[in-house]
Amino acid sequence: MLQKTENEQNNMLNETIQAIMNRYSCRAFTEKMPPDEDLQIIAKAALAAPSGVNRQPWRIIVVKNKSLIKEMDDEGMKILAAMSDKSLYERIKARGGRLFYGAPCMTVIPITQSVPAGAEMFDCSIVAENIALAATSMGINSLICGLAVLPFAGEKGVEFRNRLGFPEGYEMGLAVLLGYAAEQGGKPHELDLCKVSFVE
Ligand SMILES: Cc1cc2nc3c(=O)[nH]c(=O)nc-3n(C[C@H](O)[C@H](O)[C@H](O)COP(=O)(O)O)c2cc1C
Repeated sequence: MLQKTENEQNNMLNETIQAIMNRYSCRAFTEKMPPDEDLQIIAKAALAAPSGVNRQPWRIIVVKNKSLIKEMDDEGMKILAAMSDKSLYERIKARGGRLFYGAPCMTVIPITQSVPAGAEMFDCSIVAENIALAATSMGINSLICGLAVLPFAGEKGVEFRNRLGFPEGYEMGLAVLLGYAAEQGGKPHELDLCKVSFVE
């Protein structure tokens, strides 16, 4: 049987698989805000995530306030700059010096402790991926951002929690930056098929 070309294979993928395969981390955004209708669908996709014992230990906070995102960015960079190990700071500096890459919108996922302790982080990660995939499927770029914990870890942490409306007992989990790529040509990473094995 003739081997299918990669293009032929990709054309056969359904839309869900295409969104999974096309998602990539965007690290330069334009100022354009995604439409509210799209953000509402993305928020619903987030809520549709599975969670251990269906505890749903999360909140989904869609931050559209660009100056608040900039404040959190500045605070996070200040914290990074003050660390004795400067490698992360230098890395972000080399990528443009913005923790949140100029994204106009940021979905923040605070989490509350689940059982067993730590399980909430698995749940939170699945929510983040649901957000990124839903966004990709609608032509919106994204970046899952673990370093978004930084502004919540410093002296302005309580202030940011309050301004975002974290409920009592919730801590910062992950954020997903949303918007539109400032540069074309962003690509998904190479698939390392060596990491797959089948046991029959
Ligand atoms: C849990 C998690 C946290 C991440 N945190 C950051 C981050 O803080 N800053 C960043 O630039 N990228 C972050 N990334 C993006 C990864 O660097 C990226 O997924 C990886 O390099 C693979 O590239 P791809 O997403 O384009 O496939 C994070 C990804 C994950 C899954």
